[in-house]
Amino acid sequence: FSISRREFLTGTAASLAAFGAGGLAASRAKAADFVLPIRPCEHELRPGIVTRGMMGFGETGLPPVLRLKQGQPFIVDVQNQLEEASVVHWHGLRIANAMDGVPYLTQDPIEPGQSFRYELTAPDAGTFWYHPHCNTLEQMGRGLTGVLIVEEAEDPGFDLDLPLNLRDFRLGSDGQFIEFYKLRNAARGGTLGTVSTANWQEEPVYEAPAGGLVRLRLIMTDVTRVGTFAVSGGAARVIALDSNPLASPLSADSILLAPGQRADVALRMPDGEGQEVLVTLANQKGPRVMARLKGQGQSLKRSLAELKPLPANPVPLPDLASAETIDFVFGWTPDGTAPQPSICGTLGLNFWSINRVAWQGDTPGPVDPLAVLRKGRSYVLRLRNETQNDHPIHLHGLSFQLLRSNKRELPPLVTDTALLMAQETIEVGLVADNPGNWAFHCHVIEHQKTGLTGYIAVE
Ligand code: C2O
Ligand code: CU
Ligand code: CU
Repeated sequence: FSISRREFLTGTAASLAAFGAGGLAASRAKAADFVLPIRPCEHELRPGIVTRGMMGFGETGLPPVLRLKQGQPFIVDVQNQLEEASVVHWHGLRIANAMDGVPYLTQDPIEPGQSFRYELTAPDAGTFWYHPHCNTLEQMGRGLTGVLIVEEAEDPGFDLDLPLNLRDFRLGSDGQFIEFYKLRNAARGGTLGTVSTANWQEEPVYEAPAGGLVRLRLIMTDVTRVGTFAVSGGAARVIALDSNPLASPLSADSILLAPGQRADVALRMPDGEGQEVLVTLANQKGPRVMARLKGQGQSLKRSLAELKPLPANPVPLPDLASAETIDFVFGWTPDGTAPQPSICGTLGLNFWSINRVAWQGDTPGPVDPLAVLRKGRSYVLRLRNETQNDHPIHLHGLSFQLLRSNKRELPPLVTDTALLMAQETIEVGLVADNPGNWAFHCHVIEHQKTGLTGYIAVE
């Protein structure tokens, strides 16, 4: 880390030249499909108030929606224009471990002024997202959460594809950032934001063709909030969760999404010009409007029945007869030891643990895997939450199938992030087909940063 703030701000041309000259262009004949800067920015999150000190992706900071094609290589050059190290993780993509974007586990952090080339080939279609894995609570809190879409090989036939990047910001009444967390909350459910946004706006209004079919993608990129969303005002049903199509669609009246989770909703707009569909978030004071869709033009007179079901993704399903069961216990930290300080790891204290071990920060030193899986074998992971809080448990690089819960009926959903309710035990099944060290953590980032992290090795 050798570049001062002043040099960096005044030396844009020079640093761009450095990006080009520093081996990147010289040794790599191939141009990137996308250049993704990580940069400081500001944005009018609330009407008339510019929030300063934000972090964003891309040209303006407002994270661009990245669109990949299923099974086709996509090269992203990430340029770190922040004054601190970062990396980009592609949440839900079953890609090569070296491209997974976890500091020290899969790559070195990208230092300020440096870039890193990610080569992504997504085997599955659907709705995904991207975010850093360094100083994660603050970097995500300042804005670094973006939507990534992998398009099906065959167009499913919607008139409009509308992703909603749903998240909060923690702002004071002056529209500026306040502290990103309170320690006492980190030991409980996490610290909620104060301003709820869709695509960095409060209650944005989108035009949609009257009587048309909309693929509404809800992506919960918040660091803390577990929310129940609803789509009302038009015929709507949930057709995919966490990028995987559902065999039978679910109601769009009550869509529970935890940090990291996504829902694809097939929506038929009402016929009348100007008629509205609302996306709402349930809270104590009643539903809060997150976004509006307003019908435009003459009705297209489409019908949800015209949509062909989305094809299943090529996720291998476990052979339960031969599967070995491995236990994971999500609990309190055994001894309250303070973790080692590190740029990417910690809030300075541990409250949580997996199998009685609290992660010691994403430090360069050796940390043992929670489990070692044999490549190609089937496993059942028994996930037991012995705490009073909910934990959205996320596994990188491998998708798993929900098998059963001791508390509720579960659909046979394939996912990468399972919400484990207080005191719940869920069993999930997977085939360990993707070799490497895969991060395994709670997606309430305050929990992730106070012990509820580890990794699973596949070899
Ligand atoms: Cu969204 Cu480690 O993950
Ligand atoms: Cu992930
Ligand atoms: Cu948690």
